[in-house]
Amino acid sequence: MKILMVCLGNICRSPLAEGIMRHLANARGLDWEIDSAGTGNWHVGHAPDQRSIKEARRNGIDISQLRGRQFQADDFDTFDRIYVMDHNNYADVLRKARNESDKAKVQYLLPRQQEVPDPWFDDALFAPVFKMIYEACEQLTAQQQ
Ligand code: 4NP
Repeated sequence: MKILMVCLGNICRSPLAEGIMRHLANARGLDWEIDSAGTGNWHVGHAPDQRSIKEARRNGIDISQLRGRQFQADDFDTFDRIYVMDHNNYADVLRKARNESDKAKVQYLLPRQQEVPDPWFDDALFAPVFKMIYEACEQLTAQQQ
């Protein structure tokens, strides 16, 4: 299965989601391919935010080599599932959908359409954001066994 994690900048939340999901899928022997992208283009080619790198490292996951890229319509062809972090990401990704099959691939990462808050302006959010994403990814990998 091919999974794409999407947020706004692709430097705070979705690189964490990519690193965490890859870590958990590997640990559970799942043959999944994981990638991430942002709906915006400000951070194309950039490494993840230092605060995300640090929080991931504190939890034994290295995301320092990831680089930002922008979500594009042909990601719908490549990926089976596209997980978004918040309502804006959901609307922005759906706007690029070309048909019902594209739309059906888009889901919120958290259950019940809850949002993963954007931690960009609040250092204190990185730890809870990591935890929220980790627990959601644990649920998703557990459902596959
Ligand atoms: P992310 O956080 O969407 O979790 O990567 C953000 C990073 C950068 C910006 C916004 C959100 N920005 O406006 O540059």
